Amino acid sequence: MEQTANAAALGRPATGVDAVVVLDYGSQYSQLIVRRVREAHVYAELWPHDVAWEDVAPLQPKGVILSGGPASVYEPGAPQLPRWVLERRLPVLGICYGLQLLVQALGGQVAPAAAREYGPATLEVVADHPLFAGLPARSTVWMSHGDQVTALPPGWEPLARSDNAPYAACGHDGLIGVQFHPEVAHTEYGQAIIANFLFRVCGCRPTWTPGSFIEQTTAAIRERVGSERVLLALSGGVDSAVAAVLIHRAIGEQLTPVFVDTGLLRAGEPETVVTVFREHFQMPLVVVNAAERFFARLRGVVDPEEKRRVIGEEFVRVFEAVAREHGPFRFLAQGTLYPDVIESAGPVSKTAAKIKTHHNVGGLPPDLAFELLEPLRWLFKDEVRAIGRALGLPEVIVQRQPFPGPGLAVRVIGEVTPEAVAMARQADAIVRQEIEAAGLASQLWQFFAVVLPTVRTTGVMGDFRTYANLCAIRAVQSTDAMTADWARLPADLLARISQRIVNEVPGINRVVYDITSKPPATIEWE
Ligand code: XMP
Repeated sequence: MEQTANAAALGRPATGVDAVVVLDYGSQYSQLIVRRVREAHVYAELWPHDVAWEDVAPLQPKGVILSGGPASVYEPGAPQLPRWVLERRLPVLGICYGLQLLVQALGGQVAPAAAREYGPATLEVVADHPLFAGLPARSTVWMSHGDQVTALPPGWEPLARSDNAPYAACGHDGLIGVQFHPEVAHTEYGQAIIANFLFRVCGCRPTWTPGSFIEQTTAAIRERVGSERVLLALSGGVDSAVAAVLIHRAIGEQLTPVFVDTGLLRAGEPETVVTVFREHFQMPLVVVNAAERFFARLRGVVDPEEKRRVIGEEFVRVFEAVAREHGPFRFLAQGTLYPDVIESAGPVSKTAAKIKTHHNVGGLPPDLAFELLEPLRWLFKDEVRAIGRALGLPEVIVQRQPFPGPGLAVRVIGEVTPEAVAMARQADAIVRQEIEAAGLASQLWQFFAVVLPTVRTTGVMGDFRTYANLCAIRAVQSTDAMTADWARLPADLLARISQRIVNEVPGINRVVYDITSKPPATIEWE
């Protein structure tokens, strides 16, 4: 019960929307399954494979999807199907390992495949089944398996085959398994297959929309907060911005958003925050101009980790002063997202509502213990963006590229001085303007300038020899920042950027382009 109460309190959209549960057997694609389901406007949550029915019951799931996984079902200790999955008589879609589990549990057989299958395969549909409604008889699917089904459980029928997998899809009633991965983009009709399972097999309705989320979450926030007050740190990024607008919509002026201008943000960002939140949304925004404090603390600091520590600590000091001056506050709101939740404690951490602020706004003193309010903890980034748009946030915030918390301090290599940050800011603005003007921004994960004030190189401007700073341009493509490739920007675009930086940014006389992928480099230079 406590979990249910917490879940509702945290804004879990558990009522009024149709939902399915995805059980995680360790596939690298588990989160992707959840995203695909939500793209079909059905709510899904990812849970460990041994989750108890009581934990998922509040969702009133209309179906279950079993993910793939690295184990073999016939090995001792292999992860099992929870008993409730079959007992509840819900429709089930088993993917890869999930298929094999279903087959084994119902009396069929699974064995190592004669030929392991990785990569594309041609799927041939052999039965008239709602899972394949509207699909052509043959299409490309993505396989990745070493085991396969060798005998079907009693009553099961083959639904589709491939060259190496006679039971590439099979099932009976609402129990269905597929050997391939419908969730990956390489499966030609993957999204259609998932949608068919949701709508034609489970009978779900497409009720998971920004509107339904906003409606339910504002109601949940109102109920949880009551007449108490909420403090929120706006960073300029999309997550805290969406959290602020959502909470403001729910409780109005009981929310105090705070924006700490560290002096380390990009050109125009502090102004945008003030315009959007104070003028457009009419929030009682507290703005703290703390640049001098930050630069004073950063004097002489060159080690990147030390920079991060100093900035984090100073941020807490400033925030603490605001909290005391404007408080008391019962709640601290944060823009924590679902991938962070999945990767840390599991979807519904039983203690989530009691975690103190040191979790994220590190090191606040004990008398400033808040309860956390995390209304986005069930959302993926693209969903946060869609909700931001539905709430009327402007594109400059909704589409803002990832920007490190320590800001331009990690884009100045070596000591962070106001002069070096000014160079980084001006160069960064030029990079952004040019890449946006070239229409390439949406294809890039991040693009920015790095300034190296400790490196001087020789140049010549007019009749004068210069001995000035080096600036590096970094532009990368990535889907999750775990890996990244340097972007093959057009040479004439690079030429324009270089020319403008050298001409317009005093102190820089040379520009280089970073052509290193991650790994072995990282995206940031520090
Ligand atoms: P790296 O440089 O490790 O960065 O490839 C991966 C992603 O994380 C961002 N990044 C940070 N974000 N605080 C943050 O909030 C930090 O200290 C930090 N350092 C790197 C980086 O911009 C990239 O998106």
